[in-house]
This record gives sequence, C-alpha cells and structure tokens, in this order.
Amino acid sequence: MDAADMGDDLERILLSEEQLSSRLDELAAQIDADYAAKDVLLVGVLKGAVMVMADLARRLHGPVEMDWMAVSSYGSGTKSSGVVRILKDLDADLTGRHVLIVEDIIDSGLTLSWLLSNLRSRGPASVEIATMLRKPDAAKVEVDVRYVGFEIPNEFVVGYGLDYAERYRNLPFVGTLAPHVYSH
Ligand code: XMP
Ligand code: MG
Repeated sequence: MDAADMGDDLERILLSEEQLSSRLDELAAQIDADYAAKDVLLVGVLKGAVMVMADLARRLHGPVEMDWMAVSSYGSGTKSSGVVRILKDLDADLTGRHVLIVEDIIDSGLTLSWLLSNLRSRGPASVEIATMLRKPDAAKVEVDVRYVGFEIPNEFVVGYGLDYAERYRNLPFVGTLAPHVYSH
C-alpha cells in the first residue's frame, strides 16, 4: 500500500520509508554495540510492532531470538487506559535472559510500564525497550526507554504497523489521517 492507494484519506506523511529505514540502521548498530555477543530475546508486542521487529531484527548481527506477546489495553478508540490483559503470552522462559522489548509507539506509556513490571517479575538478566515512535505524553511516565526512533507530535498516526480500526498497518511510512476518516 502506498500514498496513492489512500486517496484523500491521507493528511500527510510524517516519516517516509527512507527516514524509517535509515533510523533503523542507526538503532541496530547501537543495539549490536551495546549487546556485543550477548544473546538477546526480542519481545514484540502484537500487532503494531510487527514491522519494526521484522526490519530491526534483520539489521542485527548478533544472535537474537524473537518472541511475541499480545496484550489488549481496556479502553476504546484512540486512548489507552493502563489496564492490560494478556491475550497471548510469551513462549520463552525469561529467566536469565537479556530481553529487549520492541514497540511501535509509546503514547501515555501506561501499556509499557505495565509490561515492564510484568516481564521484570520473570527473572530476566535485563529488560530494555526499543520503540520506533514516542509521543510527548510518554515523558510523564518514569520509564527509561533505551532506544527511540523518532519523537513525534501528539497526533494519531497510522502506518508501519500502526492502525486505525485495523487498517493502514501495511503502509511503508508513518502518516496522519484526514479528519473525514474519523467521522464515519
Ligand atoms: P500507551 O498510551 O499505553 O499506548 O503508551 C500505547 C498503545 O496505544 C496505541 N497507540 C496508537 N496506535 N496510532 C496508533 O495506531 C497512534 O497514534 C497511537 N498512539 C497510541 C498503540 O496500540 C500502542 O501500542
Ligand atoms: Mg491499534
């Protein structure tokens, strides 16, 4: 899917495919350097993190495993509530593992801070976070995010894994939607 397929549903492109790609090169280099030859368990949060996980993992030279979790935060529409339910848990045992959570976006940070304490309770050697996008509200939550792709404005965005009503995840860029999309 590209911008042309969206017709007038696209308001503007915030981050192009090229921008995402070159930032991922930088993040991957940093992660490789930080973990050296350590085994890393990448934990992706479904469904939004699928694109970041696929593109980040392929850039890493160190030994990595991938595992997935699906969570739903109660609350409707475009706001999360911080109350989280596990829909699919990890397959891996985290005991003694170096865990790197891979996220698409941190908004209020509520989902992430819940996830962090949940994973930390499982006896890992370390838990760090890599997110492609971070919104300004995330600053209010005391969560140390080691790797951030881009700081973005407080607007609802779609593409590169992110959806509006499950659509637009397959856009190669990150963009905003025209207001008329939300009104029907
Ligand atoms: P919190 O607020 O807990 O929320 O950090 C993180 C989750 O909220 C969703 N989210 C978005 N999804 N466009 C989306 O498609 C956005 O702009 C957006 N902001 C937050 C997303 O599921 C994320 O994991
Ligand atoms: Mg969503």
